[in-house]
Amino acid sequence: MCGIVGCVSTKKNIIPILVDGLNTLEYRGYDSAGLSYIKDGNLIINKVKGRVKDLENHISKNINANIGIAHTRWATHGKVNEINAHPHNVGNITIVHNGIIENFHKLKEKLKNKGYTFKSESDTEIAAGLLDYYYNKYQNIDKTIQKFIKKVDGSYAICLMINNDEKTIYVIKKDSPLIIGTSKHTNYIASDVPAILKYTKKYYILEDYEYGKITSDDIKIYDKEGKLIQKEIKEYQGSDLISDKGIYDHYMLKEIMEQNITIRKTINPYINNIEDLLKLPDLTKYERIDIIACGTAMHAGLVAKYLLEEYTNTKSEVFLASEYRYQNNFLNNKVLSIFISQSGETADTLAALKKVQQAKCDTLGIVNVKESSIARTLDQVLYTEAGPEIAVASTKAYTSQVALLSVLALSHAYRTKTIKEEKLIHILEEFRSITSILNPLLEDTKTYENIAKKIYEKSDVFYIGRGLDYALAMEGSLKLKEISYIHSEAYAAGELKHGTISLITKNTPVFSSATNKKINAKTISNLKEVISRGAECYLITDEDITDNSFQTIKIKKVSMFLKPLLTIIPYQLIAYYTAKLKNCDIDKPRNLAKSVTVE
Ligand code: M6R
Repeated sequence: MCGIVGCVSTKKNIIPILVDGLNTLEYRGYDSAGLSYIKDGNLIINKVKGRVKDLENHISKNINANIGIAHTRWATHGKVNEINAHPHNVGNITIVHNGIIENFHKLKEKLKNKGYTFKSESDTEIAAGLLDYYYNKYQNIDKTIQKFIKKVDGSYAICLMINNDEKTIYVIKKDSPLIIGTSKHTNYIASDVPAILKYTKKYYILEDYEYGKITSDDIKIYDKEGKLIQKEIKEYQGSDLISDKGIYDHYMLKEIMEQNITIRKTINPYINNIEDLLKLPDLTKYERIDIIACGTAMHAGLVAKYLLEEYTNTKSEVFLASEYRYQNNFLNNKVLSIFISQSGETADTLAALKKVQQAKCDTLGIVNVKESSIARTLDQVLYTEAGPEIAVASTKAYTSQVALLSVLALSHAYRTKTIKEEKLIHILEEFRSITSILNPLLEDTKTYENIAKKIYEKSDVFYIGRGLDYALAMEGSLKLKEISYIHSEAYAAGELKHGTISLITKNTPVFSSATNKKINAKTISNLKEVISRGAECYLITDEDITDNSFQTIKIKKVSMFLKPLLTIIPYQLIAYYTAKLKNCDIDKPRNLAKSVTVE
């Protein structure tokens, strides 16, 4: 989603720094880009519809500017075009903004009545107008920002320059992340730490309703009343800059192939012996476990629900964060809410988390990005060690989440004695061997490429399954549709004949997995039903099934706690090779953003 970079320096030309930052933020997903700087008293703004490289073509290579702000926009208010792209300038004020100004219609009317006119359809231009209005009225930037915070509803991370000020960038933050990086004679602003890592690892985190004044040698941060705040400086501890694609054509393929390592790394502290399981949080005091997340992270939650209910007798519910935040949540102190997020910045997940905290109930999180907003807000956080996930389609983050949640369920089973110790020891052994278990599946690329050749020209694909296999069908279907743009749906296998089966025609591809011997026969019967209606079927299973009416992809027989980690690999790779055959922009699918920071 939108990305922000800002820089002010007395020693460096800030233009390459802004461009580097925007390039690093590209993975978040965007549709236009812009940059502005002040040089010799003149404000210059360059904006393009399209990519950062297109923006670079608009910028003269010979400028040596010392103050500037830049942005990648993922359209919310107004079409994808140059006019709606950021920065927006109104009067004396130029801003870039992440988030949504919810009361912008009302503010726009008010400003129009005061004589303001606007060029774009963007809510950001209204925010710039409001700031300009207060700045003209009070002739004081502190009062301007404090008033802005009072009057504006919604979410914002704003970087602001005043036309005649070549020394200071101002920042304001609510419900959208913003950090301030620092080094000698140069300071930086960014929506994401990676954007500035090439230049500094030291940064401050801005919290909601705080604002800051940043010059090349000074950073001052204030609360919404204007009281100066002393902030702790953070030092980035993660792996260095976002890695490159290495030998792979796409980040997505690289990230799929890395899963044999990232899963192991994530669960490593908890699987060496049975006592290691006790390092994980104790869930025994809770009567219900709620799991809240979006998209793929929610699908990881479905796996956890299944394992908790089936193997530990603990009631668990899974919610989409966007729904959870507006519904009755039936919370009490016997409920633990688990939040799952790769980016740690998903707006709906963060809002749902704040809601649970307001109800004074316990929260635990599974998060990939350290020090992200969700990670900082949670009572307790367990980090996945997937490393930076660049492809918009989540793969290695998903399997790390699933693995960590599975080990958490296993630890709960140990504490509640719902699984025999002997069996637990065996499952831990399997987890320790996950790399070698996954390798053959990851290497079988020819099988997936051949299946991709059969489906890439189809317009609809279906995924079915029961129990855990239904949760996997949902994730398989999401992977295919988000990167290949083929319409696909996931259904509980038993539900097909209640409506969806009417969509099955000759050669419609139907994928399924059957990895639970208690219900496999039922799923296979459902597969037969669609085969009778002409469907072209593929089955992922750990059973020895010979049936010429569908193609089987065999996975190793392992415990139920590991099965999802195996089943998902063919689904991910079939989606990848299908999108590749269609020449899709696999790492940056249309309309999608890596980090969904607006509602
Ligand atoms: O960063 P998060 O895990 O909170 O993101 C949640 C979803 O936006 C994300 O999983 C999305 O569904 C992916 N594009 C799926 O591949």
